[in-house]
Amino acid sequence: MNVMFKKTVATNMRKKLIITMSLVALIISLIITAFYNGLVVRKYIVRTGKLERDQQVRIVLIADLHSHVYGKNQSHIADLIKRQKPDIIALAGDIADDVEPIKGVELFLKALQDIAPIYYVTGNHEVWSGKVDEIKKLFRIYGAIVLENSFESVMVNGVELIIGGVDDPDIVHYENKKYNYDWHKAVYNKFSTLRDVSAYKILISHRPELIDLYKTLPVDLVLSGHSHGGQVRIPFLLNGLYAPDQGWFPKYAGGMYSHNELIHIVSRGVSYNPRLPRIFNPPEVVVIEISG
Ligand SMILES: [Fe+2]
Repeated sequence: MNVMFKKTVATNMRKKLIITMSLVALIISLIITAFYNGLVVRKYIVRTGKLERDQQVRIVLIADLHSHVYGKNQSHIADLIKRQKPDIIALAGDIADDVEPIKGVELFLKALQDIAPIYYVTGNHEVWSGKVDEIKKLFRIYGAIVLENSFESVMVNGVELIIGGVDDPDIVHYENKKYNYDWHKAVYNKFSTLRDVSAYKILISHRPELIDLYKTLPVDLVLSGHSHGGQVRIPFLLNGLYAPDQGWFPKYAGGMYSHNELIHIVSRGVSYNPRLPRIFNPPEVVVIEISG
């Protein structure tokens, strides 16, 4: 009887130990996953009747680098982008920062320049730097096409594309009011001219929260950043806790959103700030495959 009792106690203790160790392992792996801040690749497939069945265009979308350096001379992020074999690289603003040194951006552009054509728009931090013109100049030196409430018509893999982009709306408050115009009106007027153009139309604009304006424009795809994935995420429960200009529980923290015919892709960005950790929200290189 005594032996039986001892055996039962030993079995119960072993069970408890296994459960405790499993829980500890689970908590440790959750913490590691939560704070993982290595670059990940996020893929989206966009289907459109404007492309033939066998046609395809691949875009790599990068937002919110904030001058951070990934690997020696940006080799880590550049190699990852190169491996995606993009036809186009879209840089959706806040690539440079208003505080961090510009060196990271220069290395980034140098590393990207031979991979694919680069299209760039400014974000609020580039405007806040007070050096937005110098920053744009730097992008142009490395062959990037700077879109400033403008668009270009290009052929990619036999597909006619319109690639447009806008400056960050904060530009009207800076540079001694040099860019003093009604931003919303100017964007609406410029892109409304595309209403009768049948090509597939892409708009790059840093701010996701301005979706109500984008919905009024005759474009097929909008690419944004700015929200940093809402900084904190809880898988399956919360897609972002807080984002600039959207506040708590942002609607457009990151992901792919459909508004009837319009597709809006919001990058969670590649920002890295040790003082402001990203939780369940690793920096992401976004790959968009547009196909017929
Ligand atoms: Fe931003």
